[in-house]
Amino acid sequence: MSAVLADMAIPFALEPWSNERLALVEDALDAWVTADAPLGLDHGAPAALVEAMRYAVLDGGKRLRPLLVLAAHEAVVGSQHTAALSAGHNAAMRAACAVELIHAYSLVHDDMPCMDDDVLRRGKPTVHVQFGEASALLAGDALQALAFELLTPIDDTVPCVTQAKLCALLARAAGSAGMAGGQAIDLASVGLPLTERQMREMHQLKTGALLQGSVMMGAHCGTPDATALEALLEYGAAMGLAFQVVDDILDVTADSATLGKTAGKDADNDKPTYVSLMGLQPSRDYAQALLAQAHRALRASGLPDTQALAALAEMVVSRTH
Ligand code: IPE
Ligand code: IPE
Ligand code: MG
Ligand code: MG
Ligand code: MG
Repeated sequence: MSAVLADMAIPFALEPWSNERLALVEDALDAWVTADAPLGLDHGAPAALVEAMRYAVLDGGKRLRPLLVLAAHEAVVGSQHTAALSAGHNAAMRAACAVELIHAYSLVHDDMPCMDDDVLRRGKPTVHVQFGEASALLAGDALQALAFELLTPIDDTVPCVTQAKLCALLARAAGSAGMAGGQAIDLASVGLPLTERQMREMHQLKTGALLQGSVMMGAHCGTPDATALEALLEYGAAMGLAFQVVDDILDVTADSATLGKTAGKDADNDKPTYVSLMGLQPSRDYAQALLAQAHRALRASGLPDTQALAALAEMVVSRTH
């Protein structure tokens, strides 16, 4: 545990905090990824496509991005303000689920033969192995579209200004200047010796952008001041980069059963990673340095309720899967 957490008068218990929210996220995803006809239409989605979408999204995953959305929202509005969490249909819960849908879509496409060509994800056969490549492609496409549908309810439960802000943040984090752009660099970098700067840029885009975007989306479900926003941006950048550094480490140090995905895949695919660039221990040290940076940013935020964000950053760096 870091000095920051140890110093706190009342230790923050991440597990009960996250279990309560994970249950809400799970219920909301289960309800939203369905074949039901959207309001105003007389037919829903093809059952086979929805089956592949639900397979990709439900029953698995750490749900780190939704937790970051909710933690950032609570940091900005204050953790006493939990009434907004219970309904499950508020802006923060929609944002939490929308980010997870984008993440799930990115994993489905990441695993396809034209990308990382992986057969195991979240302890199950990958979507293209289970349903075929065309279905995997379409399930990813449809999950991406559904994410933006979730952010734009037509029943006025989310103010239009908030809807627009959330859509803009998610689109930026997922698109060519975010996750998709990072994935393009990743594929173009196979077999190449990247510099530290190139590696950092690739990781910031392919993974950091969506994690940082999660934090910013949660924050924008409230009304953060400029100091808090800047600090949360820095927290998100440091923690988001740390996440992919640790993903690179775990690819080398953990086994497939623990990870729920194929270990050793980066070396097999000749991908440049932090471990291949700087070695195992320097990568661990770098992740710790990024964690310290994330904590410093939270301390500078002026926000009183950042314990969940601090604990999630600890979890990102100490995780075993
Ligand atoms: C894996 O993300 C893909 C990366 C961006 C490194 P996670 O490790 O968050 O995957 P799940 O959601 O828990 O399966
Ligand atoms: C994937 O990075 C990042 C995404 C945008 C999905 P990786 O290719 O390292 O993720 P894993 O290790 O397959 O989960
Ligand atoms: Mg990949
Ligand atoms: Mg991969
Ligand atoms: Mg990886």
